[in-house]
Amino acid sequence: SSSTENFIQGEVKERIDRWIAEYPEDQRQSACMPALRIVQECHDGYLTTDLMDQVAEYLGMAPIAVYEVATFYGNYNHQPVGKYQINWCNSISCYLRGGEELREKLEEKLGVKTGEVSADGKFSIKKVECLGACGGAPICKIGKDYHENLTEESLFKLLDELE
Ligand code: FES
Repeated sequence: SSSTENFIQGEVKERIDRWIAEYPEDQRQSACMPALRIVQECHDGYLTTDLMDQVAEYLGMAPIAVYEVATFYGNYNHQPVGKYQINWCNSISCYLRGGEELREKLEEKLGVKTGEVSADGKFSIKKVECLGACGGAPICKIGKDYHENLTEESLFKLLDELE
């Protein structure tokens, strides 16, 4: 069953239209990034090919151009995510300061691999590029919050505190 048929309508459409209105009439495609963000938000945090196709059609773009945007930038998800997506920095400072071992412990604790959703739907782990807070390595970002200088203890405590 495809529950994403005609996804760009109602509130989703209104929100995208507000972005489109920000640009000259012949530049609807400028709204591509916010449109993808809105669709992702309204679709439990991830995009599908079908949804990207609908964005392409709505903005008058070639589907391939939308796929490129959606895969180039790290802020779009292409598979289901947990209620809390743990964005795990995979870049060099975090790596050198134990980030990789810690991510493995995290996978073990949650019983999932990076890219999967925990059985209770609460958490998913995603590897991301440098989050620009290398001084606090190793770090992860959950929602808008950065969590720095992570240890096994502080990380697990943090997760336990999330509802
Ligand atoms: Fe992890 Fe920069 S390397 S925040």
